[in-house]
Amino acid sequence: MGLEDRLLAALLLGGGRAPLKRLSGELGVPESDLLGAAMSLAARGYPLRVERGLLELRPADDLSVAGACAARLGTSLRFSVVYLERCGSTQDAARELAERGVAEGAVVVAEVQEAGRGRLGRSWHSAAGGVYATVVLRPPLRALRVLSLAASVAVTRVLELLGLDAKVKWPNDVQVSGRKVCGVLVEAAAEPGGVAYALVGIGLNVNNELPPELAGAATTLRELLGRPVPRLPLFLKLLEELDDVYARVREGRWGEVLREWRSKSSTLGRIVRVETPESAFTGLAVDVREDGALLIRLENGKIKEFYSGDVIHLR
Ligand code: BTN
Repeated sequence: MGLEDRLLAALLLGGGRAPLKRLSGELGVPESDLLGAAMSLAARGYPLRVERGLLELRPADDLSVAGACAARLGTSLRFSVVYLERCGSTQDAARELAERGVAEGAVVVAEVQEAGRGRLGRSWHSAAGGVYATVVLRPPLRALRVLSLAASVAVTRVLELLGLDAKVKWPNDVQVSGRKVCGVLVEAAAEPGGVAYALVGIGLNVNNELPPELAGAATTLRELLGRPVPRLPLFLKLLEELDDVYARVREGRWGEVLREWRSKSSTLGRIVRVETPESAFTGLAVDVREDGALLIRLENGKIKEFYSGDVIHLR
């Protein structure tokens, strides 16, 4: 990991601030190198300042300024962020923008969603303190099916920066210690000859409260790390990683992203039950194919492919 990422990780884990002297000791690098890394992060849009020996991300948790910061990220996608204090679903707000022809890279992020939705018509709890965002993309048709896998890979990278052992569960969950911390929802609209737009929705449990009924199945970063995590730098880092995976996918290099997905998969190699609205199958999860399909070897030895469904890990 490069020094900029190590510094960012230390600041994220320190609640957004840390004395230079202490960081220098912890990271084993001279203060002058840390200042250099801090300046590079600041040039990338991270709101960093140094005052009396204290390095601080400020604001640290205020997503309303994410637009100004994201506009400076040196990403291929030019992110333009719309911040909403409250909305039904960021998917719907982003769809309106997409229908009006907004360029790819438009992002809607909301503090609270009143009708956040998950896959298969489920609802997504979206209390204040989480990150609920939808990115508008205009991918080539052949790339559409791997977008949700790619987005979950981007999320795992951010969680790894925080020292968490993040795993992906097909099709699009990100889990830590078997509990879901993030879900991805991709919705798309077709046009003659291709994809008009894809809406990549990401719900990341950060400092938000979860309803008691989800306690065993889901978790938040605050719970995993034992302290709140500043959402602004977390969100900016997520945009950078999304940009990286999307660039690969767009260029037809999604094999690289799928390799990473496989290496972080908690599904492959397990006996699973795949439930679809019509049926349920049990077998060994052997691979994800280049088009994102999950391949299951059934008891009769036949391989069955799935493009959607719920996976239950049996053993
Ligand atoms: C799932 O795991 O079922 C997918 C959850 C996706 C939730 C996100 S939050 C931002 C965006 N807006 C929504 O209404 N849903 C997605």
